[in-house]
Amino acid sequence: MQPLMILSMKGGIKQMDILKEITLKNGELLILREPLESDAKEMIDYLNTVGGESDNLLFGKGEFRLTLEQEMEYIKKVGNDPNMRMILGFINNSIVSIAEIRSLSRKRIAHNSEIAISVKKDYWGNGIGSAVMEELIRFAKEHKEIKNISLGVKASNRNAIRLYEKFGFVKVGVHKDYFYINENYDDEWIMDFYLDK
Ligand SMILES: CC(C)(COP(=O)(O)OP(=O)(O)OC[C@H]1O[C@@H](n2cnc3c(N)ncnc32)[C@H](O)[C@@H]1OP(=O)(O)O)[C@@H](O)C(=O)NCCC(=O)NCCS
Repeated sequence: MQPLMILSMKGGIKQMDILKEITLKNGELLILREPLESDAKEMIDYLNTVGGESDNLLFGKGEFRLTLEQEMEYIKKVGNDPNMRMILGFINNSIVSIAEIRSLSRKRIAHNSEIAISVKKDYWGNGIGSAVMEELIRFAKEHKEIKNISLGVKASNRNAIRLYEKFGFVKVGVHKDYFYINENYDDEWIMDFYLDK
């Protein structure tokens, strides 16, 4: 973690760590960084938009129901929790991706972690998901107690499954008919990535 970015904000100047800057396949510059409380409104808008862009998330369009205060509180909590990292992806100062990794809190299972990831549809296929996944895996590798990353994905979500397989995730189980979306049931695949340590 690396360069510091100085952001001018209404309340003054804010410093933050940029996790990564990457030029995408389409030539645009992607900046990955952790969220600030001032991102809360845009994050809610983003999540309510991406929820409607595919049937692959746990919420649909307008169904992400946290209030601004709750989202700000959550951002603060994540920022203070060494076992969690949230990553925002920005292109031209707009959020194009939100992802999160957390290790489980109970001591007996704290060597396991879970991730969630989304990218705005207009930007799919440009390498954002891969860039974010690299950062999530880096976080897990840097946390010496984390030995496993788990996720759940809809069985029909082939793009996401390809992304996960590309990084070494393997299917370890199935929750039959776990999803019920638009009056159709679909299985959930449980996929794990075992870190070599
Ligand atoms: C799944 C998702 C995060 C992938 O993000 P992305 O930015 O498009 O991912 P990338 O561009 O880095 O592509 C990663 C890999 O996925 C596969 N992939 C992605 N989009 C694809 C497409 N349209 N067709 C074929 N393969 C595709 C490819 O294997 C690709 O790797 P490669 O380009 O090196 O071959 C994105 O599609 C998304 O947000 N979908 C909706 C929300 C969601 O499904 N989240 C996951 C819930 S479990």
